[in-house]
Amino acid sequence: MDTNSTLFDLSGQVAVVIGGTGNLCGTMGIALARAGAEVILVGRNPENAIDKLAAIDAFGGKSWFHKADVSKRQEIDDLLTAVLLRSGKVDILVNGAGLGSATPFLEITEEELTSLMDVNFKSVFRACQIFGQFFVDHHEPCSIINMGSMAGTMPVSGVFAYAAAKAAVHNLTKNLAREWAEYDIRVNTLVPGFFPSAEASQKGDETRALEILRHTPMSRFGTAGELTGATLMLASNKAGSFITGTEITVDGGFSAMTI
Ligand SMILES: NC(=O)c1ccc[n+]([C@@H]2O[C@H](COP(=O)([O-])OP(=O)(O)OC[C@H]3O[C@@H](n4cnc5c(N)ncnc54)[C@H](OP(=O)(O)O)[C@@H]3O)[C@@H](O)[C@H]2O)c1
Repeated sequence: MDTNSTLFDLSGQVAVVIGGTGNLCGTMGIALARAGAEVILVGRNPENAIDKLAAIDAFGGKSWFHKADVSKRQEIDDLLTAVLLRSGKVDILVNGAGLGSATPFLEITEEELTSLMDVNFKSVFRACQIFGQFFVDHHEPCSIINMGSMAGTMPVSGVFAYAAAKAAVHNLTKNLAREWAEYDIRVNTLVPGFFPSAEASQKGDETRALEILRHTPMSRFGTAGELTGATLMLASNKAGSFITGTEITVDGGFSAMTI
C-alpha cells in the first residue's frame, strides 16, 4: 500500500493533455507536471501554451507543446508518433478540446452541428482509438480522462449540440472502461460545473450567470485550480487504482440542487 505522500506522485509518467492550451486543461497540465509527470500540451495555438510552459519550467517541471487540430485524424496520429519519439511512452491522456455554442436550437445549421460534434465528441473518439491502441498493445497501467460537462448529464438550457456531444463522451467513457479494464486502462469522465474564464465572465450573460449561481449550493463559480484534486486522483494509478468508468463531478453542488 502506498503512503499518502506517494499516492499522487506521477514521477516518471508522461501525460498528453489535449486542450492543454486552454483555461481548465492548461491548469490541469500544470498540476500534472507539479506531481512529477512530463506533460505535453496540445492545441492549435502555440501562443496559448507559452504561459503554461513557463509556469511548469518555473518549478523545474518538464513540458512541451505539440500543435494539433484534433478534428483531423492524421494530426492525432502524428501527435502519438511525436510523443513516442520525444518522450518514449504515454501513461495519461486528457481529452479536453472543447467548443461551446449558444445558438438557439432551431437556428443550428448542419455545419455548426458537424463542427460541435467534431471537436467535442469525435476528437475524443479518435484520440481514444489512436492512443487506446497504443495502451492496449503496451499493457501498462494507464489513465484516460475525458472532459465531460454538466450539460452532458442533464439538460442545461441553451447549449444543445454541445450537450449532445458531451453526453456521447460520457457514454463512450463508460463503454471503454468496460472494454479495457482487462488491460489496466482506466477511463473516466471529469465533469466540471461552471468554470468561466475571466474573459468569458466579462463577455457573458449576467442573467444566466445569476441563475447558475442561484442553482449552485456553494453560490459561486469554480476556479480552474479546483479541478486539481480530481485530476490527480484520476490520473494516478495509485490513488485511482480502482476507479474506472465513472464520472467525478466538481460543481459546488450544482447537480445536487433541485428546489
Ligand atoms: N469552463 C467550463 O465551465 C467547463 C465546464 C464543463 C466542461 N468544460 C470542458 O472542459 C474543457 C476545457 O474547457 P475550457 O473552459 O478550459 O475551454 P478553453 O479555455 O476554451 O479551452 C479549450 C481548449 O480546446 C482546444 N481546442 C478547441 N478546438 C480544438 C481543435 N480542433 N484541436 C485541438 N484543440 C482544440 C483549444 O486549443 P487551441 O485554441 O489552442 O486550439 C483549448 O486549448 C472542454 O472540453 C470543455 O467543454 C468546461
